[in-house]
Amino acid sequence: MTFPLAVVKICAQVIAKANRPFILGYRLSPEERETPGIRMADTLALVKALNQTPIDYLHISLADAWGSSIVDADDKQPVFEKIKEVLAPGLPLMVVGHLASPAQVEKLIGENVDFAALGRELIREPRWVQKVEAGEEDSIRYTFALSDVDELKVTKPLLNFLLTVFKCGFPLITDEQQIRH
Ligand SMILES: Cc1cc2nc3c(=O)[nH]c(=O)nc-3n(C[C@H](O)[C@H](O)[C@H](O)COP(=O)(O)O)c2cc1C
Repeated sequence: MTFPLAVVKICAQVIAKANRPFILGYRLSPEERETPGIRMADTLALVKALNQTPIDYLHISLADAWGSSIVDADDKQPVFEKIKEVLAPGLPLMVVGHLASPAQVEKLIGENVDFAALGRELIREPRWVQKVEAGEEDSIRYTFALSDVDELKVTKPLLNFLLTVFKCGFPLITDEQQIRH
């Protein structure tokens, strides 16, 4: 963990010199499927070390916010809970992973997670936050069709990325289905 801790240290030094408020967060993916690869024990050890640094929040990137280990099928405890158990009290935790509806976000916040992050849902629905604030939850868009590309300013390289690397969380519906929806 020499490298990540060195990065945090130098970032904190730069922020100290910046002479203005600047939030420092650390974002990690808790596990890798590959062997050798990062395992939960490595991540928990890193989180304990990060507790000793001046970070303002920890952000964990998950395929599913409530997901358990992607390596150890016998371990059913949600990853965010494991991290919360070792995270310094008061250090905010942010979780991302396939969240889309306000109800899902509320449930996660109810589990003592401080912040919920939205990735692909914000591409489908850039006004998600404003709609929730305005009580317009019924008009939140959860689908994506090729006819949305221009309106949502999804460029060709981004579309290609969403339909290949990230396709499991970004199903494409046909324009006909979109009209019916
Ligand atoms: C188009 C796109 C680009 C992304 N780029 C990054 C990136 O540069 N760094 C990163 O850590 N995660 C990146 N991610 C992962 C997201 O931050 C997020 O962890 C992931 O999409 C899961 O959240 P979601 O299910 O809400 O989309 C990217 C995801 C997408 C769809």
